[in-house]
Amino acid sequence: MYSSLLTFSYLIASVTFIVGLKMLSHPATARKGNLVAAVGMTLAVIGTIFLYEKDGESLGNYGWIFAGIAVGTILGTVSAKKVKMTAMPEMVSLFNGMGGACAALISLVEFDHLSYAGTTANPVFLLIVVLGLVIGSISFAGSVIAWGKLNGSIKDFAFPGQHIFNLLVLAVIIGMAGYLIALSPAQPQWFIYGIFGLSILYGLFFVFPIGGADMPVVISLLNSFTGVAAACGGFLYDNKVMLTGGILVGAAGTLLTILMCKAMNRSLANVLIGSFGGGAKATAAAGAQGSYKEITLSDTAVLMSYANKVYIVPGYGLAVAQAQHICHELEKLLESKGVEVNYAIHPVAGRMPGHMNVLLAEADVPYDKLKEMEQANDEFATTDVVLVLGANDVVNPAAKSDPASPIYGMPILDVELSKHIIVNKRSMKPGYAGIENELFFRPKTSMLFGDAKKVLQDLVAEIKSL
Ligand code: TAP
Repeated sequence: MYSSLLTFSYLIASVTFIVGLKMLSHPATARKGNLVAAVGMTLAVIGTIFLYEKDGESLGNYGWIFAGIAVGTILGTVSAKKVKMTAMPEMVSLFNGMGGACAALISLVEFDHLSYAGTTANPVFLLIVVLGLVIGSISFAGSVIAWGKLNGSIKDFAFPGQHIFNLLVLAVIIGMAGYLIALSPAQPQWFIYGIFGLSILYGLFFVFPIGGADMPVVISLLNSFTGVAAACGGFLYDNKVMLTGGILVGAAGTLLTILMCKAMNRSLANVLIGSFGGGAKATAAAGAQGSYKEITLSDTAVLMSYANKVYIVPGYGLAVAQAQHICHELEKLLESKGVEVNYAIHPVAGRMPGHMNVLLAEADVPYDKLKEMEQANDEFATTDVVLVLGANDVVNPAAKSDPASPIYGMPILDVELSKHIIVNKRSMKPGYAGIENELFFRPKTSMLFGDAKKVLQDLVAEIKSL
């Protein structure tokens, strides 16, 4: 009776995961989608705690279970509430690492059970234990490094021959895993801890050298690793919902990785062993020279008010300044003057997938105003003014013209096709990829320096006073 109810709750939870995931694919339904999947997960967890039975016995250990849930809920809620929008990718990375760590711990515990039982384990079962341990540990260690890199506390690090070293470590892990599976859990305990330690080492050195614009791809790849590791846990416990959830995360993470590689026009192998940054970064940084011209607020106000068509290019700086609301106000003000205003959204603008969409949705910018890169690129030639707000790498022409540039080959927003380009940022400092931007020195470009929020507030006031 209880077990049928539990299976039914797992079925409902699995359906909510799929429906929630589908809803996440559009900004208008994304929040609800998240909620739908969370309700499903709650149902699965509560169902497991109260309905699970083995040999007529229920789970027990309720004190430990609820203490763990309480600690996790408090830490998760507080950190999610406190986190700034711009620090969201760091938090996602850290949370992802926790998932990997859980999967690795499950494998360690299950191996322990096997060796205490002293039985000859089914090799498939052992294979899953080891897979969960290796993939989960790599995901945990890699995610912690990614977290440190995103918040600036860990710098890119590489040594000559690092890729060979990594491959050697991986080969030793695979060799030890094969040996363990062949001989069942007859090995001493240190053997499994050896695999665990080497997998952590591999995770660290796998992510250390990858930097700059490639970080989102790595995070999404690690996310898919965590999904696969969780699916291994589902297999071990014959838990359908854990298996479904893990497979969904694994598949979604893999698809996102592929999509992001496409958006940056790079292969995954190139991202992983190309080690963005380093020498190429230094050469490109030295590239741009010449002088740039500045534009005043009043000239900007006149230029924009009398334009027919304006595109706004939002970037990371807009999120830092939290200027999305005033940006929407500027858009409405210009539209009330008969100017057509749209936003050009680059797929990797900001610091996480969909960052700009979420940011602008928060300010109630209508979705039909958010134009994808391809569409915006088709329209720049007929645009009078492009206002670049805290964006840099995503409008850097070096991606097209400079083979030495680390972002060479990445599709960019061709803002140069428009009549006037006004770039708002606080200084001439480079963006995330650490490279100079020649766009700022081109004849059609004017710089409007200052914090995006302050500049937009003043610009709105200026336009109102015209
Ligand atoms: P960036 O190239 O990072 O440039 C942002 C610019 O905003 C900076 O040059 C900065 O210049 C300016 N800025 C910062 N604070 C500002 C403020 N308060 N007011 C006005 N301007 C401000 O951003 P992007 O063009 O959006 O490109 C995104 C980059 O991040 C890409 O390299 C991308 O690959 C990478 N990335 C993307 C993701 C995803 S998935 N979206 C994840 C991680 C990394 P000043 O300091 O001079 O003001």
